[in-house]
Amino acid sequence: MTIKYVAEPFRIKMVETLKVLSREEREEKIKDAKYNLFNLKSEDVYIDLCTDSGTNAMSSEQWAGIMVGDESYAGSKSYFKLMEAGKDIFGYEIIQPVHQGRAAEKVLFPVLISKGKYAIANMFFDTTRAHVELAGGRAIDCVVEEAKDPTIRAPFKGNMDVEKLEATINELGKENVGLVVMTITNNSAGGQPVSVQNMRDVSAVCKKYGIPLDIDAARFSENAYFVKQREEEFKNSSIKEITREMFSYADTFSMSAKKDAIVNMGGLIGIKEDDQELYQKVKANCISNEGFTTYGGLSGRDLEALAIGLYEGQDEDFLTYRIGQLEYLAAKLDNAGIAYQAPVGGHGLFIDAKAMFPQIPYYEYPAQALAIELYKEAGIRTSEIGSYMMGNDPDTGEQLEAQFEFTRLAVPRRVYTQAHFDIMADALIAIKDRADSIKGYRIAWQPMILRHFQAHLEPIV
Ligand code: F0G
Repeated sequence: MTIKYVAEPFRIKMVETLKVLSREEREEKIKDAKYNLFNLKSEDVYIDLCTDSGTNAMSSEQWAGIMVGDESYAGSKSYFKLMEAGKDIFGYEIIQPVHQGRAAEKVLFPVLISKGKYAIANMFFDTTRAHVELAGGRAIDCVVEEAKDPTIRAPFKGNMDVEKLEATINELGKENVGLVVMTITNNSAGGQPVSVQNMRDVSAVCKKYGIPLDIDAARFSENAYFVKQREEEFKNSSIKEITREMFSYADTFSMSAKKDAIVNMGGLIGIKEDDQELYQKVKANCISNEGFTTYGGLSGRDLEALAIGLYEGQDEDFLTYRIGQLEYLAAKLDNAGIAYQAPVGGHGLFIDAKAMFPQIPYYEYPAQALAIELYKEAGIRTSEIGSYMMGNDPDTGEQLEAQFEFTRLAVPRRVYTQAHFDIMADALIAIKDRADSIKGYRIAWQPMILRHFQAHLEPIV
């Protein structure tokens, strides 16, 4: 099946020139980078799919906003503009800017989670898990079973397994569960959406046991778009109506604005009710960690661009084009028999490297091998989400085996065109054609924690 590429609902006014290295030069660069893509200079990358976070192209309206941003320390005009946008879109009483998503987690989570308490999510993103643990808590994932099989095409693979959630609360004792988190879309499961019905069911369980519900809202607009496409009840609703409905079931949200709010830096915390007691605690953490409440670690111009970007990310024509790009690439991979977390998610394509390289065991990092091949083949930078990222057992030092060996092609917003997507597909197909000859990697050096950012690798010959 071929699907049509949804044409860009914008035209290009400013360009950033890219350099294309030869294959020999790329082989040299990746060797010098110790086969770690984080060590590459961005100027040596042709198509950068390392992340969709903070890598988006701002609009002319946002750049115009940058010029009128109010840099006052207290009471900035841009802050009030952002407050209005946040309240309008989410329907929340209190909105607090912070500098990025993990800052929202750092400010909010210690207020909600105390030492020894559990937090349960559909799936935690790495930094959300880290901030639960830094607050003294323990993090548990309860995603639906179908998320764990890349070949099962279900509409809402990001959902919480509600029965498992309730059973886990009963097992741990409701007094020991400090927080439930719904990550929309579910990044770790492949950018898979969560349905409004699932949100309602999770909210009902939280209310029954008196546990607060937080939304990790990085890709909330993409999630709303999937709801409109796939959940019958919402097929005639606007993206804004769906967003309001989704957020009405939670108590708070923490958000990285570097994704769906189409800015390069920013984050938000939202509190639904006018809960001054909670807000005071958030304010205290924000002032000591991020900055005074009316700027929260951002420049006035960032607040202004964010207020505009929140609306642009909700635009249905934009979302149709955005998800359309991923669906276009996915259809090409279907034709070529390349397996990925299906159906394709909102912000990226997660290639099943275990299926592509059955000869490479998890401890020789098949998804890292694919990431390296993609760079060598076409100058494409991706990231590994598998055993290499997972690391070693802290007790035994043994390599852990991840559930998936994914190579993630995360797509920045409004940055790459159809021709770039064709290059991605062609590169993957070329690699698949010589998949038998690809070998794995071993680690030559690794730091103690978060090793994937820094480790040195060498090819197994
Ligand atoms: N929550 C989710 C679901 C995320 O995907 C991210 C970041 C964060 C929180 C943290 O936000 O980076 O602004 O501090 N995800 C990026 C990624 C880094 O590449 O998936 P941040």
